[in-house]
Amino acid sequence: MSDKYVSLSNLTLSYGKTVAVPNLNLDVVEGELIALLGPSGCGKTTTMRAIAGLLQPTSGSIAIDGRDVTRVAANKRGIGLVFQSYALFPHLSAFENVAFGLRLQKMSDAEVRKRTDAGIATVGLTGFEKRKPAEMSGGQQQRLALARSLVMEPKVLLLDEPLSNLDARLRLEMRTELQRVQKATGVTMVFVTHDQSEALALADRIVLMKDGKIEQLGTPHELYAKPATAFAAEFMGFENIFRVEGGNLVSDSGQLPLGFNAVSPMLAWRPSGVQVGRGPFSGTVSASSFAGGHREYVIDTPLGEIKADASIETPEVPIGDTIAFDLPEAAARPLSV
Ligand SMILES: Nc1ncnc2c1ncn2[C@@H]1O[C@H](COP(=O)(O)OP(=O)(O)OP(=O)(O)O)[C@@H](O)[C@H]1O
Ligand SMILES: [Mg+2]
Repeated sequence: MSDKYVSLSNLTLSYGKTVAVPNLNLDVVEGELIALLGPSGCGKTTTMRAIAGLLQPTSGSIAIDGRDVTRVAANKRGIGLVFQSYALFPHLSAFENVAFGLRLQKMSDAEVRKRTDAGIATVGLTGFEKRKPAEMSGGQQQRLALARSLVMEPKVLLLDEPLSNLDARLRLEMRTELQRVQKATGVTMVFVTHDQSEALALADRIVLMKDGKIEQLGTPHELYAKPATAFAAEFMGFENIFRVEGGNLVSDSGQLPLGFNAVSPMLAWRPSGVQVGRGPFSGTVSASSFAGGHREYVIDTPLGEIKADASIETPEVPIGDTIAFDLPEAAARPLSV
């Protein structure tokens, strides 16, 4: 098992004079599912296109399975691609869609049938072989696109927002399905998403990107529990982020005294980490909504709006009323800027 199965070294990717990705270094471990996560325009697709061989790097190199492929053509890299639009052949049956790439390899009919049947079974579409893509649901089409790539036995499978065309329920189903297929086949997957929860649920490791650079790289648990910067914290659901200056929490709107010592220049709290109903501070409830397991408050405070989740056990405080709260040390996440 290689720790550098896909290795990007000092990779700079540009469109004309515009540098989209400056000097990227990333090693993907063999058999892992790594997620590229980040806001629109941060360079996720650009990075994928470079790995696939669809975009020639301005500088730097790409190695796959120990071989430098920087100058190797896209179709000779052993890479499978699954993109947002599945690009299935509408006039071909599900079986023929999956068999298409194998037939191009001049394989025997028996071998094509065997591998196609196995691929279709892997994604749970046995029985759908004769259907045309238009006669299948969005999730089934997505799985068909996955099977079509898998049967080619790629070294690496690149998936760029493959679930973004699906409705919420199907997305959840396909997440589990993708994970299952990945563990079953052991194929190395690079998965692009701008959906934090999708990355957390699916990935072995997450690469959080900002402006073409890696902001933070770690396991979902590491990123979720220990975002290092304000950008990472915001992405991981810390909605209350403040500067620390001279013993105070400071925002653009004002300040509050910090009740404990902090050495970091910033502190962040999740809504669930804010204590409501009691505490040294008070504010005015400006919004309140029932969220099933808890109640979500927006509180107007000297620091501006604070988002806080309250237990449904505690009595509801109506909008416009004063509410006590605390930003406790135990739930505070220290951040560098
Ligand atoms: N063909 C192109 N020509 C010029 N600039 C481009 C081109 N494609 C992308 N860019 C620019 O490169 C940067 C990175 O784009 P990229 O498509 O990699 O973003 P992304 O992270 O995939 O975003 P999204 O989540 O919106 O898909 C952006 O600033 C974008 O405007
Ligand atoms: Mg993209």
